[in-house]
Amino acid sequence: MKDIFDKVEFGKFKLKSRVIRTGGWERETESGGFLSPAIFDRYENISKSGVGLIVSEMFALDPKDRFYPYSTNMNYRGFIKDYKQITGIAHEFDVPILGQLAFFFYDDGDNQKAEANDLTKEGIRRLQAEVIMAAKKLSFAGFDGIQINMAHNFYLSRFVNPYFNQRKDKYGGSTENRLRIICEIIKVIKKTIGFHVSIRINTEDGRKGGITPEESFKMCKILAENDADSIQITARTISFKLNDSKKHAFLDYADKLINEVNIPIILGGTLRDMETMNNILNTSNVEFMSLAKPFVAQADFLCDWKRDGKGVSRCKGCNNCYSKKSSKCYQFD
Ligand SMILES: Cc1cc2nc3c(=O)[nH]c(=O)nc-3n(C[C@H](O)[C@H](O)[C@H](O)COP(=O)(O)O)c2cc1C
Ligand code: SF4
Repeated sequence: MKDIFDKVEFGKFKLKSRVIRTGGWERETESGGFLSPAIFDRYENISKSGVGLIVSEMFALDPKDRFYPYSTNMNYRGFIKDYKQITGIAHEFDVPILGQLAFFFYDDGDNQKAEANDLTKEGIRRLQAEVIMAAKKLSFAGFDGIQINMAHNFYLSRFVNPYFNQRKDKYGGSTENRLRIICEIIKVIKKTIGFHVSIRINTEDGRKGGITPEESFKMCKILAENDADSIQITARTISFKLNDSKKHAFLDYADKLINEVNIPIILGGTLRDMETMNNILNTSNVEFMSLAKPFVAQADFLCDWKRDGKGVSRCKGCNNCYSKKSSKCYQFD
């Protein structure tokens, strides 16, 4: 029988459990722009709770590219200092940690909001170089890898989407061409930094003319063939429902994908109790699962689940922690 607290391998990492903490904006700062002590405490509580892997909050390339006024970027003065400490905390508890890169806009020098069709070849090279430099900076800060967010409605999800990308060169047209921008980035990061590269992807776009589930599936296979180390599947919006049979919305997609690729696939969203998670593990191919809001509701809830052999998150799914200045729980904090 599989259990969420099994010790497992995830690429080159050895995890203490199959549970991945994902997302959450956390740059609650003190004067001077550095992370507040509450963030270090939160990372310590998460790291010692039995979590297998942590993915940081999203970092934008530049303050102007941020998704949201309260989400953060990699260019603030204390970034390396702050995150050396955060990654140090995770490592103290033997938990690998990935830094997530997710930018909403891209400024190509001429246009502050250059979309896929606007970028020149030089613009594409510059964007790729900036992502590779971001990975380098994450490695200086002690991260074990990068997660490139090609999901939700972030810039790179729009670049690879036929709804937005009608380029006529080798970065547009076929699925392979639209993904080229990412595959080239993965290649250089792997070669020069030797980092774990994880990709977050939507199972579909939902817009007419956008990425279908079939194309998303094909993209995952291409990413795996091009040396991505793991894939985390998600939806365009953070609020999605279980399907009518109460099955996890992405379970069939994940189950099939795991059969066809050789890298870890992470299923996530709406997971709230240990029994359901263990049922998924024992009735499908799924090996890894991610949770976000349960960690906001109680950073160390996994300690209780491990002790009791069961547990249900106290998160009520109200989404009040979304679009706020911090990821604190507005029900319980
Ligand atoms: C406050 C908050 C902040 C989030 N920040 C991020 C983020 O930085 N990067 C990301 O990929 N997803 C982010 N998400 C989305 C979550 O990673 C996750 O996909 C979503 O909440 C569904 O999972 P859950 O049901 O386990 O919360 C955030 C969600 C919340 C509620
Ligand atoms: S604010 Fe609501 S959605 Fe967010 S963690 Fe608390 S209960 Fe869950």
